[in-house]
Amino acid sequence: MNEMIETILNHRSVRSFKDEPLTEEQIKIIISSAQSASTSSYIQAYSIIGVTDKKKKKKLAELAGNQSYVELNGHFFVFCADLYRHEVVGKMTGKDVISSIESTEKFMVALIDTALAAQNAALAAESMGLGICYIGGIRNNLEQVCKILKTPDRVIPLFGLAVGYPNKETTKKPRLPFEHVYHENEYCQDAEIYMKQLESYDQVVSSYYQERTMGKRKDTWTGQIANMLERQSRMYMKDFVQSKKMNLR
Ligand SMILES: Cc1cc2nc3c(=O)[nH]c(=O)nc-3n(C[C@H](O)[C@H](O)[C@H](O)COP(=O)(O)O)c2cc1C
Repeated sequence: MNEMIETILNHRSVRSFKDEPLTEEQIKIIISSAQSASTSSYIQAYSIIGVTDKKKKKKLAELAGNQSYVELNGHFFVFCADLYRHEVVGKMTGKDVISSIESTEKFMVALIDTALAAQNAALAAESMGLGICYIGGIRNNLEQVCKILKTPDRVIPLFGLAVGYPNKETTKKPRLPFEHVYHENEYCQDAEIYMKQLESYDQVVSSYYQERTMGKRKDTWTGQIANMLERQSRMYMKDFVQSKKMNLR
């Protein structure tokens, strides 16, 4: 055990922040940490937009499904998959990079790069005693989000990251059992084993919710996930991504 592992294992999303902005220094450390993540072939296919304008934050909070903590936090970052600068690189060097930039592979590279950078940012913030919450809700209406943030083609805001000093202690959400997630040498495809593991995990999750809500909420993990997956969501995404000239071939 060391401090870094403790920070990682201590993660829980924070959804209520003190009215205390992050310092310039904290912001710089968070962004440098994000940028220190590994990046596929050194491509650095992401951008991070810090939103400080109150009106913009309010609008983003609404677009994200009225999530108040998008507006009320110490700082709000938006992590974007970004292949725009690579188009610029093509222009600078006189090379034809467009077919490659528009491929599914490069789209995946940009998604992976962005997620790795964001998680480094999140951990850096948490290691400084700050709380974080990722905000996928901004994908409810990306057309509007892109307008607010004035992003060009080949840039897709993927999620926000609300950061700030936590208002209260929250509890840690139990994760899937180790054996369920970690396979050795080959993937375990035995659905019976999977179901047994999930049944015991359901009990853990159900007790977690009951304790947290004084018995009011009894959800299981499989119930919650099945309910979520039963409904389609953000089905505009494929067309939207392609309209931004990504994932075209
Ligand atoms: C990409 C991403 C998007 C998320 N979007 C939201 C969101 O819009 N609103 C929210 O309250 N939590 C959001 N979360 C937080 C998850 O709900 C949370 O991580 C999950 O329930 C596990 O809880 P924990 O982070 O407290 O361990 C998001 C997490 C990720 C990774």
